[in-house]
Amino acid sequence: MQSLTNKRILLGITGGIAAYKSADLTRRLREAGADVRVVMTRAATEFITPLTLQALSGHEVRLDIFDPHAEAAMGHIELARWADAVLIAPTSADFMARLAHGRADDLLSTLCLATAAPLALAPAMNRQMWLNQATQANKNILEQRGIRLFGPGEGSQACGEIGPGRMLEPVDIVPLVAALFEVGLLSGLRVLVSAGPTREALDPVRYISNRSSGKMGYALAEAAAEAGAQVTLVSGPVALATPGRVARVDVTSAKEMHEAVLARAPQHDIFISAAAVADYHAAESAPRKMKKTQGKLALALLRNPDILEDVAALPQAPFTVGFAAETENLELNAQAKRAAKKLDMIAANWVNQPGLGFDSDENELKLFWEGGGRLLPRASKARLARELIAIIAEKYHAKHTTQNS
Ligand code: PMT
Repeated sequence: MQSLTNKRILLGITGGIAAYKSADLTRRLREAGADVRVVMTRAATEFITPLTLQALSGHEVRLDIFDPHAEAAMGHIELARWADAVLIAPTSADFMARLAHGRADDLLSTLCLATAAPLALAPAMNRQMWLNQATQANKNILEQRGIRLFGPGEGSQACGEIGPGRMLEPVDIVPLVAALFEVGLLSGLRVLVSAGPTREALDPVRYISNRSSGKMGYALAEAAAEAGAQVTLVSGPVALATPGRVARVDVTSAKEMHEAVLARAPQHDIFISAAAVADYHAAESAPRKMKKTQGKLALALLRNPDILEDVAALPQAPFTVGFAAETENLELNAQAKRAAKKLDMIAANWVNQPGLGFDSDENELKLFWEGGGRLLPRASKARLARELIAIIAEKYHAKHTTQNS
């Protein structure tokens, strides 16, 4: 069955170079079964013609609130009531600001105020504009009002810069629109995710750590929230923004992460351990900066507690998902970790292949559970996270159905 069958999507297009992607988006929404009506701002018409969108949507494109001809067919209030969901893609920085302030100075902003349907934005703008405090403040206001933000993605931009601000690809937006109508796969469940590296102090200025950026764990937290879960993210030091609707707890060392996770795990239904936790800490952390010495410096290291193993061993353990970062014998090592730590599932990834694993935007995951497994082929961490969350939800519900029957 198509994911948007009989759904009425009001597609708003604002001014930005990414408006060219709206043509493909319209086509894909219709292929997914949706009835699509397009409303463009005047600025959007500088980037793509209404005629293109009319041909692709099969309906006249609306531009103005003061258009007697269009209003005679379907008035703007009727149009606002008609929509099952309003998607604005691309959403410019200016439109986000207008929406945050409740402006109603053109047809699209008026419709956003007048509709009771869920509203989703796919922002697209230059990275500095996205990172600007004003835009970030507007984003927070909009999210607090329950408006969903799809992206933006990261990468090279039309302006020649690289960073966050690209509109998500239409192929990635369509399932997010479909998810607006689903009772989330994880609705009513509490999910705890660990992400990022830990830092083990050697002295006040030095530490042992690893190359984890937190991207995989943050993508999982975001995907779990999208699936309707109440999400807590325990994070090592990373340079990432907290995903919307996720509660974040910052920690530095493995010991702190252990305390933060173990204190919360009993109140959660699912634990996903994507953090790259240091296995060792210095036997002694020097109170003052260590001086250079002649010859060799030997550091004594002690084992850190295994957070994942301790969570899985809790009397009322949550459904526990580990990761395995491997440079050889991926399957053998991952299966051994799953068995030793008594995990419900493990997601193994290569961490010595270019573009995968640590600090990359893409990954490939090999999943293992009791009696089965699945390969999630190379894709963006955001897409893999959504796929992994869907599988975790399926296995979690299967386990609980069996336990309760
Ligand atoms: O953060 P990114 O840059 O996006 O990179 C993602 C990632 C490569 C860090 C991620 O995909 C990943 O593989 N995370 C687990 C890294 C790791 O520590 O793997 P491991 O094989 O050493 O540990 C196995 C499992 O035990 C992991 O779930 C780990 O979180 C957990 N562990 C390990 C040691 C410890 N003391 N406590 C733990 O809980």
